[in-house]
Amino acid sequence: MNARLFSFLGGDTGPWRVTRSSAIVGKPLGAVARVDVVSGAVAANAAGWSLRGITSNERYVLREEKNELLSKQQGLGRAEATCAALIPLRKNAAWWALTQDERRAIFEAQSHHTQIGMRYLPAIARKLHHCRDLSEDEPFDFLTWFEFAPAHEPAFDQLLAALRATREWQYVEREVDLRLVRES
Ligand code: HEM
Repeated sequence: MNARLFSFLGGDTGPWRVTRSSAIVGKPLGAVARVDVVSGAVAANAAGWSLRGITSNERYVLREEKNELLSKQQGLGRAEATCAALIPLRKNAAWWALTQDERRAIFEAQSHHTQIGMRYLPAIARKLHHCRDLSEDEPFDFLTWFEFAPAHEPAFDQLLAALRATREWQYVEREVDLRLVRES
């Protein structure tokens, strides 16, 4: 089994209780009570959905950005980080038709994604999963996962508002924002 492959299972079990699920762009996800995050490819049970994604090498960060991220960011699973967000995203065909240098220019030079995100470290911990290369018919290109303490939810909302106003987000054709609290 590939250790970088994860399934996000929406259903009625798992430590994360769904507090809100909003379709920001495009179709919503089916309503579920809880989310479980498990290793490997796991099928949905009858009541819910399963989204699969794989962690990967970085595509856009430059060495100095990477060093700054490494010096500031914290990992998942902190005791105080009882809130999470699962935000699956799909970008449109125009984005995928660009070359790597064109995408990097939009992502950072024009949209300042890393620079904006860096201001919210270490409060927000993050993990990015890619779906696009798993199969032809994955519903999303990315599954993004964030963990933070309840006191930092307003900051997280501010971060999202800043990113959603960027040129990069003009290429987003589907985005669902699920908020969760850990209850184990
Ligand atoms: C917590 C602060 C954040 C930081 C420091 C951050 C940083 C980064 C970095 C450095 C990358 C590029 C990785 C690479 O080189 O391949 C990236 C990619 C990405 N981030 Fe963020 N990010 C943050 C928050 C967010 C938020 C709130 C979202 C919204 C859902 C988001 C969505 C994404 C997506 C979808 C990608 C992949 C973009 C692509 O490959 O086209 N990030 N982020």
